[in-house]
Amino acid sequence: MNPVKIGLLGLGTVGCGTVAVLGRNADEIARRAGRGIRVVTAAARDLSRPRACDLEDVRLTTNPVEVVDDPEVEVVVELMGGTEPARELVLRAIAAGKHVVTANKALVALHGNEIFARAHERGVMVAFEAAVAGGIPIIKALREGLAGNRIDWVAGIINGTGNFILTEMRDHGRDFADVLAEAQSLGYAEADPTFDVEGIDAAHKLCILAAIAFGIPLQFDRIHIEGISRITREDVAFASELGYRIKHLGIARRAEAGFELRVHPTLIPERRLIANVDGVMNAVLVHGDAVGPTLYYGAGAGAEATASAVVADLVDVVRALTADPENRVPHLAFQPGALSDQPILPMTEVRTSFYLRLRACDRPGVLADITRILGQHSISIEAILQREPDPERGEATIIMLTHEVREGDMQAAIAQLEALQHLTSPVTRIRMEALGR
Ligand code: NAP
Ligand code: HSE
Repeated sequence: MNPVKIGLLGLGTVGCGTVAVLGRNADEIARRAGRGIRVVTAAARDLSRPRACDLEDVRLTTNPVEVVDDPEVEVVVELMGGTEPARELVLRAIAAGKHVVTANKALVALHGNEIFARAHERGVMVAFEAAVAGGIPIIKALREGLAGNRIDWVAGIINGTGNFILTEMRDHGRDFADVLAEAQSLGYAEADPTFDVEGIDAAHKLCILAAIAFGIPLQFDRIHIEGISRITREDVAFASELGYRIKHLGIARRAEAGFELRVHPTLIPERRLIANVDGVMNAVLVHGDAVGPTLYYGAGAGAEATASAVVADLVDVVRALTADPENRVPHLAFQPGALSDQPILPMTEVRTSFYLRLRACDRPGVLADITRILGQHSISIEAILQREPDPERGEATIIMLTHEVREGDMQAAIAQLEALQHLTSPVTRIRMEALGR
């Protein structure tokens, strides 16, 4: 049988990784898919740039529309990144009845509702395994492997660059900027690396995971997002002394009144497997009512790790080319007409425990004032640690771990604490998750 012909948009880290994996594993892939898969044309911005893959038999162009419109191309693989012109090109491919594979989480999170609706109308597939957690087949696991469960929560380390930075800072005391530059040179970071360090990339991925886990529309603008740029080595050390690791987590949880969707640095007990996921590795913990907790681990970024997911999608698309469109796995796991309209909760209604770091003048009554304010807001302290005061600055550092509290109450308590004269700097607060049940 003739090979399926692919048009590639983008020949960067993931584009070249995909060409390399398709070439090296061509026989295995054809045995799995039932047909060969061949890249016939590809677009990049600068054709004079050296590429890390063999493009001898590939027609190259700087015009991505030519790739989409090429009559030979049956499947368009979008690996350019960004939302425009990627959105327009993907919609153009769908309108032409072509299947699409993409690794673009920003595109899926922000425009997925529109893209999937058009794809459904046109009866084509849009596959996006590589958009979440690089090489880990988490979309497949959630959409198919856990289809018998009611998903209670999902918590993941879903940005490789951020995890790489936190790990290097903790283990080697390296500077944030240095490690970020290395992540960029290794091809892990987004074109705009603030997406990685400020949590936007993780929020794109969380948005997709939540939609598939709970059967809700993609709602990126309802996610609470905090990055890792304000985490200090001191907090990492205090957390460690108390038996915790600080990880940048994306969390989606089913609560009584709606869903929590949040991305923020989080203290996790160091005995949890996920607390020990380091470097560029990602891990996603999914709790289903029937199966309990399950953990998915692997490389979250990088050329061939991501290509592994792109090629798996291609194999799925090729296998399904002849299947009746109505009987394919739905894009967001649940049938398009069966999505839930339960609300995403405002952050003030979310309940978590907290790590608090306060710096205060070393005077009698300071601790009493602090605990009185916390008590007034029904915040109960689980552990407390006070360092010997710095004699030169006359200042003490106090670390507290709290029991679970409503975020709105914690915000009010922190505002009152920061108004105290004895506090010498703003309160550092990091949320904590036990991730046990
Ligand atoms: P990249 O290295 O920057 O590659 C982007 C490619 O797209 C380049 O070849 C670029 O051409 C081409 N391109 C961009 N705009 C174009 C335009 N208007 N016309 C023609 N070509 C254009 O990016 P990447 O790291 O491979 O990431 C690609 C996608 O995969 C992104 O959506 C990213 O979020 C996602 N992703 C990346 C990773 C990873 O580890 N890197 C992992 C998972 C998902 P030039 O080379 O000529 O500039
Ligand atoms: N920049 C992303 C990361 C690439 O570091 O996780 C993988 O999605």
